[in-house]
Amino acid sequence: MEKHGDGFHRLVLVPYLLQGHVTPLLQLGTILHSRGFSITVAHTKSYSPDTSSHPDFVFLPLPLDESMPSIHNNSVDFVTVITSLNSSCRVSLQELLIEMIQKQEQHERLPCIIYDSLMYSTKEVVHHLKLPSIMFDTSCATFMRVCPEIQKPGYSSFQDTSSAIVFNSSDCLERPSLTQLRQIYKVPILPIGPLHKLAPAASSSTTSSLIEEDKSCIAWLDKQTKNSVIYVSLGSIASLDEKELTEMAWGLANSKQPFLWVLRPGSVHGSEAIALFSNDFKENIGERGYIVKWAPQKQVLAHKAVGGFWSHCGWNSTIESISEGVPMICRPFFGDQNIKTRYISHVWRVGIELENDLQGEEIERAIRRLMVENEGEEMRQRAADLKQQLEISIQKGGPSYDSLNELVELIMSV
Ligand code: UDX
Repeated sequence: MEKHGDGFHRLVLVPYLLQGHVTPLLQLGTILHSRGFSITVAHTKSYSPDTSSHPDFVFLPLPLDESMPSIHNNSVDFVTVITSLNSSCRVSLQELLIEMIQKQEQHERLPCIIYDSLMYSTKEVVHHLKLPSIMFDTSCATFMRVCPEIQKPGYSSFQDTSSAIVFNSSDCLERPSLTQLRQIYKVPILPIGPLHKLAPAASSSTTSSLIEEDKSCIAWLDKQTKNSVIYVSLGSIASLDEKELTEMAWGLANSKQPFLWVLRPGSVHGSEAIALFSNDFKENIGERGYIVKWAPQKQVLAHKAVGGFWSHCGWNSTIESISEGVPMICRPFFGDQNIKTRYISHVWRVGIELENDLQGEEIERAIRRLMVENEGEEMRQRAADLKQQLEISIQKGGPSYDSLNELVELIMSV
């Protein structure tokens, strides 16, 4: 077992059950493990992380009520799922932590809990057990600044129990929002990102994917010319109806650009997406289009053939794209994705927003603007500048590097 400082120091991560939430928290865990902390992941039983990818972590499942609605059930709203999940997990998390404390040896420090902000019931548990805790927000700092949700009881009192708030971000991306949050809240605001770039090199081959990645697309990308491919992925939860799927398909086909398209199982309401494509469409795209159920996204975005990313603008996808200098077509679906779209298109000016109903002709036009025209080339240049700033941010003396050190010192001091 590894030691940190004057005693064995365990961190307990409490992720929310979506891919976009599990991934960055496990990345943070990987980074902190490399700094000598031991990592336990208390995850809800409803998903099974690939434990073999993190052989040094301890995974402990939290039982859930049988009646818990599924996040993938489109008829149940997001707030209902979050509320039921929190009330369902609270007791099992408390029992798990009590057992952990009872089993620990005398020289060991109390565990420090790092929880996803959506797992807000963790606050009550740590408050009750008098444990130190850190809140991790998987979205951007700007969303926390502008989102009225943080006024709700579940969010607003986090500063009473948490020692800090961590974002997968950087001062170079969101300085005005981070400055305002630092003025509003009394706890350290620590942007530590891009996390996937800060994680030790050996961990880049591991994955926290909840769906199996189809790596065959890399061989297809190898055959394409530099910056020619538009990569299309709408993340782990957004879904389309059949009409939107058809418009997307024909917009991509008629753009004449090569494309790599992720069509996640269940991402088209009530249908299996691939079965909806006509022979006409398949003949039209021939070898020019490649469709997978799930891609090794970070590897795809780092590939030299990829010149643009059509995204739903989840925060992980956004930060992964700009970390590789890839400009974007933004098609947000809900919540924080709208705010990121504004940032991408109006603040960083590295993307085009697709507004209104999806129409094949508008899609075709947006793809050509991004992939072929000068406007797109200028966005690519600005994205390359952001990529460089992010690289500096994680180097020694850079703001994300310094925030990480501050987090380590803070955990050691609480
Ligand atoms: C959700 C919300 O949609 C988003 O708004 C919020 O910011 C985070 O939680 P999600 O839809 O999963 O996120 O999107 P995103 O944050 O972009 O995360 C998706 C993750 O899945 C990324 O890390 C991406 O690399 C990965 N991914 C996606 C793959 O590895 N392969 C794929 O084919 C698609």
